[in-house]
Amino acid sequence: MAKMWAGRFQKEEDEKVNDFNSSISFDARMYRQDIKGSIAHATMLGASGIIDGKEASLIVSGLEGILSDLDNGFLTIDPKAEDIHMFVEEELTKRLGDTGKRLHTARSRNDQVALDLRMYLRDELKEISSQVREMILTVCRLAEENMDAIMPGYTHLQRAQPITFGHHLMAYAQMFLRDLWRLRDAGKRMDEMPLGSGALAGTTYPINREKVRELLGFSRVTANSLDGVSDRDFCIEIAGAIATLMMHLSRLSEEIVLWCSWEFKFIELDDAFATGSSIMPQKKNPDVAELVRGKTGRVIGDLVTLLTMMKNLPLAYNKDMQEDKEAIFDAVDTVKLCVTTMTPMLATMKVLKENMRAAAAKGFINATDCADYLTKKGVPFRDAYKITGQLVALCIETGNTLETLPLEQYKAVCETFDEDIYKAINLDTCVKERRVVGGPSPSSVEKQIKRVRMLLDEDD
Ligand code: ARG
Repeated sequence: MAKMWAGRFQKEEDEKVNDFNSSISFDARMYRQDIKGSIAHATMLGASGIIDGKEASLIVSGLEGILSDLDNGFLTIDPKAEDIHMFVEEELTKRLGDTGKRLHTARSRNDQVALDLRMYLRDELKEISSQVREMILTVCRLAEENMDAIMPGYTHLQRAQPITFGHHLMAYAQMFLRDLWRLRDAGKRMDEMPLGSGALAGTTYPINREKVRELLGFSRVTANSLDGVSDRDFCIEIAGAIATLMMHLSRLSEEIVLWCSWEFKFIELDDAFATGSSIMPQKKNPDVAELVRGKTGRVIGDLVTLLTMMKNLPLAYNKDMQEDKEAIFDAVDTVKLCVTTMTPMLATMKVLKENMRAAAAKGFINATDCADYLTKKGVPFRDAYKITGQLVALCIETGNTLETLPLEQYKAVCETFDEDIYKAINLDTCVKERRVVGGPSPSSVEKQIKRVRMLLDEDD
């Protein structure tokens, strides 16, 4: 097929170069945004008297026809077209003849693609955000049901201090809330309309950028035409927010993998969210969590792709930038897939509270509370710490826990101990007493859940 720019050339494009240059296989997904952007542009061209008003109306209804034909499957996208912008314009010209050729007045594909991508990502951000909200609400619900489920909290993956499963989950709710805000902030900065930047130097036509902005629902127009066509910060910011969200999902996935191992057995995944082995009949594998963890690497790769692609580009548009789409689309697709699989997996998993409690009973996770007991009775913390260390060593030697160690033995190490030590180191007490803001006590976790729900409501 003869190229649109054939006038300047003496030879046809090499078939291989045609395919190499083409982006239709991945930018076809922006057809709605492309057409809506063109409708706004044509409307403005007509209203500003740059093209004839009647012709503008014909273009608008022609574009609307193409949009509904694509939506309904009456028209399929030609894989031989160079990109979605050319396809739509060529289809319009097929339908309208010369009138169709007026659409691209005062516009370049450079500002067009910048617009399409912003519009596309604006829609995707809405969807991702609502999926993340759903996940946060699920985490809150699960936390509410498990405010009393005492488990060991870990540092260095060593049992450290008693917390509850609800408290542990609410840590993830905080991360996901920040993810939601990061996505929202990226969306706010992206909210600028680039049409009118032209190829790079704006245009001499008396266009009305404000009108196009308003028609397309943007808050501002881009402030510099070079930046308007060569900026991909919005892709990078969104990919960064998504990569961070994936990193959080990956940490949770890692914990889920650990928790459903026989060594922990803190949870059991629903059969619908686990897989078996082709050879080992006893296996129930957490493939979903592992895949989320694995896919996180891909998404981090997408962010690095975008940053590396941009880092040496002189102003303004360079064809390298066509590579932005596969990276950001992959990040968007992957995070949606992961969040929407993770949420029902969390909602359906069985929490084995007794096993958590049993694990909490071992490992001397109330040792800090034992030291605190002494401190509250006047022993300086450093001395109390040392005494407790001696007691732990004694327990290990005699096969005891702090709960089973007889009072005489306590007293033998430090006179300050009394009968009430057993209450002080009781796991329920240890958790209940940590009422500090942000702490694991049920009353504190309840407040954390309330706060997250309230912040989500405010965001609505
Ligand atoms: N397919 C191109 C892209 O995605 C559209 C912009 C083309 N501009 C150009 N000057 N060749 O970046």
